[in-house]
Amino acid sequence: MLNTIDLKGKRALITGAGSGIGRAIALRLAEEGMKLALVGRSADKLMRTAALTGRPLEMLVLPTDITTPRGIDDIMHILEGHFKGLDVLVNNAGMALNCPFEAIQEADFDRIMALNVKAPFVLCQRTLKLLRLSDCPTIINIGSVTAHQGYAGQAAYSASKHALLGLTKALAREVSGEGIRVHMISPGGVYTDMIAIARPDLSPEGMIQPEEVAELAAYLVAHRGNAVVDEIRLHRAAKEPFQ
Ligand SMILES: NC(=O)c1ccc[n+]([C@@H]2O[C@H](COP(=O)([O-])OP(=O)(O)OC[C@H]3O[C@@H](n4cnc5c(N)ncnc54)[C@H](OP(=O)(O)O)[C@@H]3O)[C@@H](O)[C@H]2O)c1
Repeated sequence: MLNTIDLKGKRALITGAGSGIGRAIALRLAEEGMKLALVGRSADKLMRTAALTGRPLEMLVLPTDITTPRGIDDIMHILEGHFKGLDVLVNNAGMALNCPFEAIQEADFDRIMALNVKAPFVLCQRTLKLLRLSDCPTIINIGSVTAHQGYAGQAAYSASKHALLGLTKALAREVSGEGIRVHMISPGGVYTDMIAIARPDLSPEGMIQPEEVAELAAYLVAHRGNAVVDEIRLHRAAKEPFQ
């Protein structure tokens, strides 16, 4: 197939790999034979993901908080020491906040920005030097339809995903000359724990499955053609739940 690359043995770091979309991406990239660094706070959840790949010994489980400098230093230490580089960075970890605008606490606003925007920014910045050494360097940021539209009760979450989109677009242009691909996938409602908690009013029926997002992520990593520059939006045809 046009411009596809063999991913066997390539190295990916996936944040939020212990559940939902991050786990689905991990399992899909593991199917391609990739070596994965699985990041999240809960070691148990990450170990479960590693076990589900069927090749747990080839997976690095990194239980750490990516909103702390210590967490980022730990990740870099492992990437440089064990992986000796990086081919693919997937910034997936994120949190939602469903709250009327006037009730949003400043501390919650800071927390969501730290996880959804600052952590991906720091990880992109710190890993670029490793990605430059790869022959298929790719960054995938998991955004949201709230990066493109406003929804009542979603101001903080939407602000964080708009910021991530801006970062993605600017970085994509800045490093395109070096062959580094930077993409954002912006799903509508995906059937995961997050949406069950943030939007209990929405019915799972008709939602996107995490595996569908994972398939797109795998496509973006494996295809180096010129068709996709930075952004893929996943919209449903009918009434659209969101996150
Ligand atoms: N579900 C949806 O409808 C939907 C739609 C569009 C976009 N998204 C986006 O998709 C991404 C994944 O969401 P999901 O639905 O799969 O939710 P999820 O199952 O809650 O996954 C979030 C993951 O992030 C990890 N995480 C949270 N805080 C962290 C921290 N400080 N350091 C490291 N890891 C942390 C969590 O693991 P630990 O708790 O173990 O740390 C968890 O595995 C998010 O960016 C979300 O905004 C979701």
